[in-house]
Amino acid sequence: MARLDVTETFHGISFPGHLHTQDSLQKALEFQFEDTDILIVSYPKSGTTWMQEIVTLIFSKGDPNLSQTVPNWARAPWLEQYYSSATLETSSSSPRLITSHLTHRLLGPALQGSKAKIIYVSRNPKDVVVSFYHFHKIANFLPEAGSFAEFLNSFLEGKLHFGSWFDHVKGWTSQTATMNNLLHITYEELSLDLHGAVKRISTFLQCPLGEDVVNSCVKHCTFSNMKDNKMVNYTLIPEEIVDHSKGSFMRKGKIGDWKNMFTEEQSQYLESVLKSKMQDCTLEFVWDV
Ligand code: A3P
Repeated sequence: MARLDVTETFHGISFPGHLHTQDSLQKALEFQFEDTDILIVSYPKSGTTWMQEIVTLIFSKGDPNLSQTVPNWARAPWLEQYYSSATLETSSSSPRLITSHLTHRLLGPALQGSKAKIIYVSRNPKDVVVSFYHFHKIANFLPEAGSFAEFLNSFLEGKLHFGSWFDHVKGWTSQTATMNNLLHITYEELSLDLHGAVKRISTFLQCPLGEDVVNSCVKHCTFSNMKDNKMVNYTLIPEEIVDHSKGSFMRKGKIGDWKNMFTEEQSQYLESVLKSKMQDCTLEFVWDV
């Protein structure tokens, strides 16, 4: 199947032009946030879809009807996607749930002074790069993945679409000290204690939940339930855009799958780059369970 990858370079970062045009990216930067908005931000493959599902379930008090009848991209539209941001501007639902992969350098100015609640999701970079590699194989709007060794180098050099993982994570997480409307949560926290994470997120969103409701949210956003839910597993997307004959969006959903892909040398190399690029950062990563 023909690839649809057109690279759009915006503020020095490459984006999939099939989804994001210069115009739609510029519109995202000028977006008027409302204080009631909820923004989910992440580097790709960090648990974005999972967080969209969790927040949807929190606001529907654990009732899965919405998450089973409305696709995630309509429930939590992408800010940088033209049709989504146009929909967002006219949306009357409150709170508006919005998703973005943009860096803090790009989105920070639009959020200045806003009380919109931001949830930043991160994941250990070894699992991110493996998940992104497999995603490139099924997503025709992204460039050819090439070999894993080549892909890993591009990731470490910040050359993949959506830019440098290091800049993304540093940019957003460094704001937690000063922005009390920003919650940083990791994929690994979700994975190791989904129940505790749902409570933490609902408290942050000022939407306290009883124990039964938390249990219902947890039940409906497990990997196996989401894998079977057409509204989040991306099987509704036409095959020319995401080719599910080559693999699943809901692929493995595990911590530590990087071990099946990385050589020992690649693992040490990533760690050395991580150490040098994240010197001023106190984040700790969970690599395995
Ligand atoms: P894998 O490719 O490692 O399986 P994003 O939504 O940011 O694109 O992230 C996609 C990754 O999150 C995929 O990782 C996907 O399987 C995983 N994921 C999505 N929902 C999940 C869930 N409920 N539990 C665990 N992992 C989940």
